[in-house]
Amino acid sequence: MKKVLVTGGSSGIGLAICNLLSNEGYEVIGTARNPERHSALSFSLVKLDVTSEESILNASKEIINKWGKVDILINNAGIGFMGPVAYAKSEHIKKAWETNVFGLMRVTQEFLPLLYKSNKGRIINIGSIGGKMGLPFRGWYSAAKGSIEILGESLAMELKPMGIEVCTLLPGDVRTEIAHSRLEPTIDELKEYKESYIKMDEILQDEMSKAMTPETVASTIAKLLRRKRLPLKYSVGSFLHKLTPIIKNLTPQRFFQWLVLRHYK
Ligand SMILES: NC(=O)c1ccc[n+]([C@@H]2O[C@H](COP(=O)([O-])OP(=O)(O)OC[C@H]3O[C@@H](n4cnc5c(N)ncnc54)[C@H](OP(=O)(O)O)[C@@H]3O)[C@@H](O)[C@H]2O)c1
Repeated sequence: MKKVLVTGGSSGIGLAICNLLSNEGYEVIGTARNPERHSALSFSLVKLDVTSEESILNASKEIINKWGKVDILINNAGIGFMGPVAYAKSEHIKKAWETNVFGLMRVTQEFLPLLYKSNKGRIINIGSIGGKMGLPFRGWYSAAKGSIEILGESLAMELKPMGIEVCTLLPGDVRTEIAHSRLEPTIDELKEYKESYIKMDEILQDEMSKAMTPETVASTIAKLLRRKRLPLKYSVGSFLHKLTPIIKNLTPQRFFQWLVLRHYK
């Protein structure tokens, strides 16, 4: 039975992945910062805060003792972050990057020895189509997601000799609770951006209400895992979301920025 470790298995995309993969016969080890708050799950939940070195080490000890190895690591834990680039607070920038980039890579480093024990180790990092472009008021989030995509490219080449595959999954909007824990400035801190930020937030909320479900992302992952080889990158989302990075690459840069600004007007 393949052993899958999924960070952030307590809600949204991670929970959907854990549920589906455990139904499909994988041995699923999910993680959460407060596993005691989640009960009646069909999979195990281990305590792990990706921003804490100590927590990562404790989780790895527990997983080595109980499961011995990991065949698939799905780096899903992450937080949302919105606001004008110019007014982002240092503590928000640090928290978002500690979670979405440094934590993800620290977890990967720690669990590599367990993946080496598998005869076909696989890593799937949850990036975002939003990481393909600098969107207004999502610059810091987009940059973090873009970073893990680049790091994933390097990692894939470096781990090839060890037989470990690396894939970055790039979802478009997914209907989860991510906005509830999102880091963002207060209305007063928005200053001259107040009106345009509120307008964009309304558009985003509307888009989120029509977005794909986390189960769609989970079933994409299940399909990818059935493949003989993982793709380096894979996008999942609406036709428009998947098309946007292509339009960005094919059109003049000013035109693309005009299109994005027009979309959020
Ligand atoms: N929703 C979208 O539209 C969308 C689109 C593209 C990509 N993504 C990415 O998909 C991933 C999952 O997002 P989601 O929408 O499912 O959000 P979510 O419902 O808010 O779930 C986030 C998960 O991450 C965990 N988490 C947060 N901070 C953590 C930390 N410091 N250490 C360990 N775990 C932590 C949470 O667990 P606990 O709070 O229980 O610890 C939770 O299980 C994220 O990486 C996100 O950036 C989301």
